[in-house]
Amino acid sequence: MKEKLNEIKEVILEAARKARQETGDIPAPQDPEPFTWPINCTVGPGLEGAIASESKIGYVNGSKGWLVYRGYDIFDLCAYSTFEEVSYLLLHGHLPTTNELNEFKGKLAKYRILNKTLRIVMSFPVEEMNPMAALRLGTNMMRQEYSYMDKEVGRPKLDDAISSDEDSIPMETTPMGYANAIYEFKTNLCKNPIGMRKTLWDASNTEACYQLIAGVSTLTSAIVRLKNGHMPIEPLPGLSHAANLLYMMTGHVPDPVEERIMDIALILHADHGMNASTFASLVVASTLSDIYFSVGAGIAALNGPLHGGANEQVVHSLLDIGGLDNVKAWVKNKIENKQKIVGFGHRVYKAYDPRARILGPLAEYLVGGRSDCMQVIYQTAKRVEEEVLEQFGREKKIFPNVDFYSGIVYGCLGIPVELYTPIFAVSRVSGWTARVIEYLQKNRIFRPRAIYTGEFNKEYVPIEQRNRDV
Ligand code: ACO
Repeated sequence: MKEKLNEIKEVILEAARKARQETGDIPAPQDPEPFTWPINCTVGPGLEGAIASESKIGYVNGSKGWLVYRGYDIFDLCAYSTFEEVSYLLLHGHLPTTNELNEFKGKLAKYRILNKTLRIVMSFPVEEMNPMAALRLGTNMMRQEYSYMDKEVGRPKLDDAISSDEDSIPMETTPMGYANAIYEFKTNLCKNPIGMRKTLWDASNTEACYQLIAGVSTLTSAIVRLKNGHMPIEPLPGLSHAANLLYMMTGHVPDPVEERIMDIALILHADHGMNASTFASLVVASTLSDIYFSVGAGIAALNGPLHGGANEQVVHSLLDIGGLDNVKAWVKNKIENKQKIVGFGHRVYKAYDPRARILGPLAEYLVGGRSDCMQVIYQTAKRVEEEVLEQFGREKKIFPNVDFYSGIVYGCLGIPVELYTPIFAVSRVSGWTARVIEYLQKNRIFRPRAIYTGEFNKEYVPIEQRNRDV
């Protein structure tokens, strides 16, 4: 088994060597340039190009294909680290010591037990629900179990903010950014009421982030079991996050290879700049809503087929192609009809997505020696990649993204397709929570503008005179 784990590490290191050969080394550590608001940037529709905040959490270089969490190259984290370490790193800004890691793991073990939440979730028709809808419901129920948000004591007090002048910039003026209004909320605003358990006191409470990181995995596992007519399984305290996720889904303790592969997949999906679901989480947090609502917003945004939902669509389309012989014509048809090929392209990456650089070879490693449908799906995927690159040409800069090979990896672990996007959420909850904590340190409510292209001065017509049929 140790040999196999070494083989997996080698697969990642080989992918890293290839990436560095093609894209160059990530620059050595340096002090960031001083930064003052407001900032000039060119903004496209969908806020493309807009800079909304500063962050020390993650760096994505789309033209090079680099991904960095808190200064660490994603290839190194995948080769040497674990999801627990990476989550700690994202939340706290440094790799944990042994004591810190053990304490963090202990908290995750404690918060993975979600009995009350699951009892409530099970009163809903989960088996008929989209798993992401069920997951979002579950995080709302966690909010009930863990927080006092609905009680007076749990509400953030605007008086305690340095400024509560949230949205008063007239549209005609230049945005002032941090220079004008910084809402730094003191931590622990609310005192522990006598007789109440100390849990969530304000939206930035780290404990709530731990609860969500642990709880989203329990919920995801419970959802798949309920959908298949089984009861949820309680976590095993001694297992890692990745192993527990697989165990709670299947009822079998995974072998070290399955655990390691799951672990790497979780590391890879944990954070990715100001993507749509992270932005959605931050928008909700910026209103001084709470971390449970923020994560719920992230789950909702992640669900869409242009974002995290793409991993499920990829597998469906690879199956629809109907065999290797059809790939060329399928790709040609898509390109000629200007249809998007799911699992390709990225708003930021105009180079090969580093996550796909790892997941592709991992998928190849896993299908090796198999003669089932996963082998066929993998071969089809490889051929699709070759055809897309050939027919578009490399100058079009459409490469596989993180979602193209992840489904094949999950499929090899025996995970059903409808769980691929919830598993993305199991991992991304680390990034969402880390970024919400960071953003709340210098909170400013999100409020972009829309250009009004409608009319003015229209005369109000009473309803009885609005006869459009004539
Ligand atoms: N297949 C075919 N052509 C594509 C693809 C694709 N997957 N992606 C982009 N293009 C083409 C567009 O047709 C367009 O061509 P044109 O200039 O000739 O009109 C050009 O590339 C630019 O495309 P945009 O849609 O403007 O790129 P944008 O940055 O807005 O979109 C997105 C990024 C949404 C991810 C897009 O690439 C896409 O829809 N991909 C498929 C869905 C997918 O895989 N999503 C997962 C992304 S990863 C993630 O969210 C975790």
